[in-house]
Amino acid sequence: MTDQPTSTSGRPWWMDAVMYQIYPRSFCDTSGTGVGDLDGVRRHLDHLSWLGVDGLWLSPIFPSPMADHGYDVADYCDVDPLFGGMAALDALVAESHERGLRVLLDWVPNHSSDQHPWFLESRSSRDNPRRDWYIWVDGTPDEPPTKWKATFPPGTPAWTWDDTTQAWYHHRFAPQQPDLDWSNPAVEAAMLDTLRFWLDRGVDGFRMDVIHMIGKDLSRIGPDYGDATDPVRTHGHLRRIRAVLDAYDGDRVSVGEVYILDVEQVAEYIGAGPEGPELHLGFDFVPLFLEWAADPWRTHLAQAEAALGRRGSWPTWALSSHDITRVRSRLGSEEKARAAAVLLLGLRGTPFLYAGEELGLEDATVPPELRVDPAGFRDGCRAPIPWDASPHHGWAGATPWLPWPPDPDVRNAASLRDDPASIVHLYRRLLAARRASAALRAGDVTFLPAGDPDNDDVLVLERRAPDGDRRLVALNFAPTPRPFTPPAGPWTVEISSTGAGEGAPFPNELAPDEAVLLRP
Ligand code: GLC
Repeated sequence: MTDQPTSTSGRPWWMDAVMYQIYPRSFCDTSGTGVGDLDGVRRHLDHLSWLGVDGLWLSPIFPSPMADHGYDVADYCDVDPLFGGMAALDALVAESHERGLRVLLDWVPNHSSDQHPWFLESRSSRDNPRRDWYIWVDGTPDEPPTKWKATFPPGTPAWTWDDTTQAWYHHRFAPQQPDLDWSNPAVEAAMLDTLRFWLDRGVDGFRMDVIHMIGKDLSRIGPDYGDATDPVRTHGHLRRIRAVLDAYDGDRVSVGEVYILDVEQVAEYIGAGPEGPELHLGFDFVPLFLEWAADPWRTHLAQAEAALGRRGSWPTWALSSHDITRVRSRLGSEEKARAAAVLLLGLRGTPFLYAGEELGLEDATVPPELRVDPAGFRDGCRAPIPWDASPHHGWAGATPWLPWPPDPDVRNAASLRDDPASIVHLYRRLLAARRASAALRAGDVTFLPAGDPDNDDVLVLERRAPDGDRRLVALNFAPTPRPFTPPAGPWTVEISSTGAGEGAPFPNELAPDEAVLLRP
């Protein structure tokens, strides 16, 4: 595998990396299905290299009936023909590695598809050897075992009655996504083998879907509990998952989707646990729901640093994903989305960009008759990426599976790349600045007061590396200018979210919604 240009000596590559999430269905269709494919990802690796990211995470590409667009896996060890099959993945991994880009797959361990052979066997009879690979409870068809609700469709029971064997099976998500019973050692062994399968093929790691849910204690199925998850068991599974990754070259990474909106709890799953290492990285999703104001951000960032710091864990940050309204649409303006980008790439930790975020894409407006998401609200953020201004925007020509985001004739990768003032150039400058600065990549972080006691709208953080390299990040959350006098100046504007004044002395004032990266 090629050396990463960003390596800071002695640190694992993923601490220095900026990662890029690809939702393959929406990235680029080369085959005329209207659904993106892996050759479409390979075609645009140039864009990723040009942008300056260090690796990509592919949302699930495994064979799937697509009840949850790939998060319902029917075979953990293959690639769906819709995406081009195994050959397309091998080609993508090889070409990514040639360019020094790492590749993470999306491992979905909590549940399989109801079409997975394991579940087909499990449901076939009560004495099938795989019966207890899933969670079955006896009863009568009129009354589910508990009142627990599934995530999809919202409000429906987390149990489905199965006529063949006259029992209920449990699913945290859709009925087509039965939960695996990880308390069965055979399930854990089989799932660990699926990791080895991909590690042997050369992937660099995994994003791990709702990983905090895998540990379950079936004695909790009853009215006293809100679900069967058992964190103690999850920690045990995570240590064994980690051991599988560590048995390779010490270079493979896990990034957990620990979807708990409490960073203190999330931190329990990351880094050096009391009984051994668990996840390398884990997303903190609280920032995706924070009010756009300095105080909640300052408070949360400091809390996250403290929670993760207790174990010496490395933070992970994202502004968008395939599960939530895009940052540009949430914040309501491109100016704010640009300021958020400066903050994201100024934070201590590993940032994840969501494809199209660098283009400032908004969510598509999806009319009811075109909606396909079982959750009902995630189609907009999964709209296809427009690559150029041509009629099909660089896609093969079939109508894409979801409508385009707003203004694809102008808001597409090629047009924005032609415009040095566009948001994609801001992202590119930020990535280059991060790559060049030990303070930004690896330095510690201090939250500074904005200087003026009446100035509640400016968030300031200082990054400082042991070699003395320093940067300041300052963000004005207000829609009007704010004074800000940085400590121990003078400081030069390295990057501004507005593009103004770069290379000039910082004028001690921030424009409305402006964020700056300052260097001494
Ligand atoms: C995670 C995924 C989401 C999926 C769910 C069930 O939250 O990010 O897209 O629907 O898990 O797998």
